[in-house]
Amino acid sequence: MIDGKKVLFSGMQATGNLTLGNYLGALKNWVTLSDEYECFYSVVDLHSITVRQDPAELRKRARNLLTLYIAAGLDPEKNCLYYQSHVSGHAELSWILNCFTYMGELNRMTQFKDKSAKHADNINAGLFTYPVLMAADILLYQADVVPVGKDQLQHLEITRDIAQRFNAIYGDVFTIPEPYVGKAGARIMSLQDPAKKMSKSDENPNASIYLMDDPDTVIRKFKRAVTDSVGEIRYCEEQPGIHNLIDIYCACTGKTPEETEREFAGKGYGDFKLAVGETVAGVLKPVQDRYAALQNDKAYIDGIIKNNAEKAGYYANKTLRKVQKKVGFPERIR
Ligand code: TYM
Repeated sequence: MIDGKKVLFSGMQATGNLTLGNYLGALKNWVTLSDEYECFYSVVDLHSITVRQDPAELRKRARNLLTLYIAAGLDPEKNCLYYQSHVSGHAELSWILNCFTYMGELNRMTQFKDKSAKHADNINAGLFTYPVLMAADILLYQADVVPVGKDQLQHLEITRDIAQRFNAIYGDVFTIPEPYVGKAGARIMSLQDPAKKMSKSDENPNASIYLMDDPDTVIRKFKRAVTDSVGEIRYCEEQPGIHNLIDIYCACTGKTPEETEREFAGKGYGDFKLAVGETVAGVLKPVQDRYAALQNDKAYIDGIIKNNAEKAGYYANKTLRKVQKKVGFPERIR
């Protein structure tokens, strides 16, 4: 609890261009939840270097991502928006938690398996212990709730396991976090292969809607979205492409799948795809406009980066000192 409010933590990687999946699965919910909780939203650059990055590019993307957080509607006066690398407690707690995490647990992580297959020439230890750093992110702020897309649920599970294990040995040190997954949009699929998650790193640009895609591009990509030959707009497993488009439409409009089926009953796929495309373009446009305006305000963004790193550091240190004491590190002499 901070000032009587429950704590929320979440983060995003600044690698690749953000997709509609990141927006509907996470960012949009962050904005909705931000009034209710004391929120920490990190640009997780420590996680990013588990895959090789161009340094200048990473720096640029990290700043763009932080700017995008604000453009999406997160008020930086109320929400702590900061770079993970500016708060050394993340790496320090991660080391300690590594000593409370088993190889077998990490070996089971599907994201590790996927990423190792994709980056077979660079299966580094950081990639393996990635979920422990995520646990450190969350536990450092004593977060009660962590809004994420479905792909991160396994990492949330291991975070809870590590926290419970630590608490069982040392007493009530960590708050046990709950995941928050939105009703719609928690797993947005590729527009070209609805069996695959929409991903920043997809090589086919038509598979993903990027948050900075202009309206024409958005509509064109939806028109080309892979569907089926059934010809009916129904929300069912047998029609994964349509299922995904309905999910996207519902996440953007707040309508239910049943309402959407009724709205488009008797209409063709062409009409439906156009409606989804126009809806998504309408949701993205204000974010893009605010983003463009913010990019010109260097001093404002710099101020946020400085102040919020200090705020995050303050709360991170509180937990870190407690943990260091529990595990037996000597007190600092002041
Ligand atoms: P990242 O950067 O891959 O994704 C950021 C958020 O977007 C969600 N997401 C999706 N949701 C729905 N459909 C999709 N196709 C889709 N693709 C991505 C993700 O679930 C995530 O919520 N390891 C994390 C970042 C992280 C983190 C944390 C998150 C680091 N520390 C602590 C929460 C708490 C990651 O790489 O997310």
